[in-house]
Amino acid sequence: MELLIKNVHVCDPQVGLDEVTDIEISGGIIKKIGRSDGGFERVIDGEGRLCVLPGLFDMHVHFRDPGQTYKEDLITGANSAKAGGFTGVACMPNTKPPIDSAERVGYIIDKARQTGINIFPIACVTKGMAGEELCDYDELKAAGVKMISDDGRPVENAELMRQVIEKTNENGLLVASHCEDLKIINGGIMNKGRISEQLGVKGMDRASEDYITAREICLAMSCDARVHICHVSTRGSVNIIRAAKRDGVKVTCETAPHYFCFTDERLLARDADFRMSPPLRTEDDRQAVLEAVLDGTIDCIITDHAPHSAEEKADFEKAPNGVVGLETSLAATLTKLYHTGKADLNRIAELMSVNPRRIMNIDPVKIEVGRTAELCIFDPDHEWEVVPSELNSKSKNTVFKGEILKGKNLYTICGGKLVYQL
Ligand code: DOR
Ligand code: ZN
Ligand code: ZN
Repeated sequence: MELLIKNVHVCDPQVGLDEVTDIEISGGIIKKIGRSDGGFERVIDGEGRLCVLPGLFDMHVHFRDPGQTYKEDLITGANSAKAGGFTGVACMPNTKPPIDSAERVGYIIDKARQTGINIFPIACVTKGMAGEELCDYDELKAAGVKMISDDGRPVENAELMRQVIEKTNENGLLVASHCEDLKIINGGIMNKGRISEQLGVKGMDRASEDYITAREICLAMSCDARVHICHVSTRGSVNIIRAAKRDGVKVTCETAPHYFCFTDERLLARDADFRMSPPLRTEDDRQAVLEAVLDGTIDCIITDHAPHSAEEKADFEKAPNGVVGLETSLAATLTKLYHTGKADLNRIAELMSVNPRRIMNIDPVKIEVGRTAELCIFDPDHEWEVVPSELNSKSKNTVFKGEILKGKNLYTICGGKLVYQL
C-alpha cells in the first residue's frame, strides 16, 4: 500500500510523538514521519484536524463464536472492532462450548486470520468454566494463549484461585478475574440501592465486587504474582486497587466507558439494554472510576462488548447481562475525557492502545519508521448520534443509543492495509 497521511496530529507516547505532521506508508511499512514532498497515489488529508493513534486494542470482548453466532461471530465482531478503530482484541472464552482446550483455541486463531485484525483468544481458567478443574495452562500457552479468564463468573473457590494465580505466574500466563461474589449477588439484576428499591427489583450489592477484588489482591500478594481485575465499577474496588498498587502488589485493572459515563438512574425506564454485569452504579462510583482512569489506578479502557439479540433483551428482568461497545468506546472516551480537558491524547493512547498490549504481553504497536502501519485515524470533533441500527455489530444492545458523541474513527489500518474506511 502506498499512502500519504498528511497534516494530522500524530500521537504515540511510546516514541514521544505528539505533533502535527505527515506519515508516508509504502508497502504497508511506515517509511517517514515528517513533512512529505508528496507524490503518493493515495492521500488522506487530515487538514490539521484529524488525529492518528497506534491501532486501538480491546482486551475484553465477547464474540460468541462458536455457538451463539446469532449474536455475533468473529467476522462481524472484527468488523465492529475495525469501525471503532481497533486493530486488536482479546476474546473472552464463554462461548458454546467454552474455549478450554488447545483445539478450541485453534478454531479461534484459524478463523481470526480472515478478519484483517489481530484476535487473541482468552482461554478458560477451569474446564467448561465450571470452577472445579483447572485447564492445562502449558497446553493453552503453547497454542498461543496469553491470558485466561472464566469471565462472566468468578472462580468461586478461593484456594483454587490461589493455585491459578500461582500456576499462571510460573508459566507466564495472566489471569483476569470477573469479580462478583455470586452468593451476595443472589439473583440481583442491577445495582442495589435507591433505584433498585424504587423499581422494586432485586439489587446486586456492591460488596459482591469489592469483596472478590480484595480477595484476588490478597491472593496475588501472597503468591507475589500478577492478577488482572476486569471491569472495575465501584469506589470500593478503586480504593482497594489503588492502595494495593501503592504497596507494590502486581495488580492491573480495566474499566469500560459506560462506568464513567452513566449511573443506575438509566435503568428507571426498565430497559434491559442498560443491564450489564457488573451493573451501572451510583454517581459517587462513576466519579471514583473517572478519577481512577485519570490518576493511573485504572490501566485500560475495555468495552466488555457483549452482544445479545433484541429478543433476549426484550424482558427487563429476564434479559441476559451485557452491552455492545466497540463502535462507541473511542467516541465516548473522547467525549468524557478529552473534550472535557481531563485527559490528553497521550493518556488516551495509553488507556486504549499501549497498556492493554503491555498487560497481555503482546508486541507493542508503535508509530515508528520501519514498522508495519497499524493505525487509527479519527476526527476528534465529529459529532454524531448513536443509532443502533447503524452499528456493524450483529447486536444493537448499546447503552449509548440516542446519545450525541463527539469524535469518530474514520480509517483503520492494520497489518499495513486499510481495513476500514467510514
Ligand atoms: O455483562 C456481562 N456480559 N458481563 C459479563 O461478565 C459477561 C458478559 C456476557 O458474556 O454477556
Ligand atoms: Zn465480566
Ligand atoms: Zn466480559
